Amino acid sequence: MPLDEESTSPPICDYEGSDYQAVFWDQSDRAYEDRAEALALKRLLPSSGDLLLDLGAGAGRNVPRFRGYRRIVLLDYSSSQLIEAQKRLGQSNRYAYVAADVYRLPFVPGVFHAAVMIRVIHHLTEPRRALRQIREVLRPRGTLILEFANKQNIKAILRYLLGRQTWSPFTPEAIEFAKLNFDFHPATMRTWLQQASFALDRQLTVSHFRAGLFKKVVPLWLLVKMDGLAQWTGTWWQLSPSVFTRSRAVGEGRSAEPGALFRCPICATPLPQADALLPWSEGQPDGNVDSAVFTCPGCSREWKYRGGIFNFKTTAEG
Ligand SMILES: C[S@@+](CC[C@H](N)C(=O)[O-])C[C@H]1O[C@@H](n2cnc3c(N)ncnc32)[C@H](O)[C@@H]1O
Repeated sequence: MPLDEESTSPPICDYEGSDYQAVFWDQSDRAYEDRAEALALKRLLPSSGDLLLDLGAGAGRNVPRFRGYRRIVLLDYSSSQLIEAQKRLGQSNRYAYVAADVYRLPFVPGVFHAAVMIRVIHHLTEPRRALRQIREVLRPRGTLILEFANKQNIKAILRYLLGRQTWSPFTPEAIEFAKLNFDFHPATMRTWLQQASFALDRQLTVSHFRAGLFKKVVPLWLLVKMDGLAQWTGTWWQLSPSVFTRSRAVGEGRSAEPGALFRCPICATPLPQADALLPWSEGQPDGNVDSAVFTCPGCSREWKYRGGIFNFKTTAEG
């Protein structure tokens, strides 16, 4: 049964069946944005670590950039995006695929060393709720790399000053510029991070030269280099359409027991049966169990695993 029937869940920008990766990235002129983001990630994310969570991983565009991490969990609401990621990334026991909602993460507290969420928070109507969830599953001092769409960007400022845009880029509230697509004010995002027990330690502004004219006139390598220099100005001001932040998990919390990863997203009972199916688990015989149903010992809900994807979106009968 769909979980939404049982408790309130904010609306989701569902990418099920979407050709996002092919149309938005592979067939469009976005090499500049992709490379500028890769550079920001390289600068912010610790170069190696153990367990990393990619939230709203989509088709796994960023995963090859997590080379130094031993194990990576790709989480997305859309199973079709995860299937695409499996195809793109190929067979590996470093990757686990999880269909779930960022508002209701199926992980035990304090388990991830790092989490990354890129081009996702702009789809969330309740970003603070998602940030609290992410904070809970991070280990103490764990790293969060969060990218958000910035309402206070040069284009929005110019349009506003010329009277071609009604909303102010300077005010703190988010602006929904299209259904389930939000731009945020950087100061507001900083407050939300702090309220969710994150300590911000670096901000990079990204994609300063997104305009078509720059892309036409300036060679790609030079544009990326220019963006690379401009990214450092994020420490002082944020006027680019995209902002990357690095924060540490602070406040109360402890690390999870070794080997434990999953818990029921509804009643929070740990799910060792699911842990045993992880590709890096010793309980996973040759990594070739194709499908399984496991029952939550706390609430008796049944969850399923099929074709390498753990499904915590709907219960097994759904
Ligand atoms: C614009 S794509 C970004 C994909 C990837 N992070 C990237 O940068 O290429 C946004 C992704 O967020 C996922 N998403 C949106 N809302 C979600 C939610 N509530 N829980 C989990 N995933 C979500 C969508 O399914 C989609 O794959």
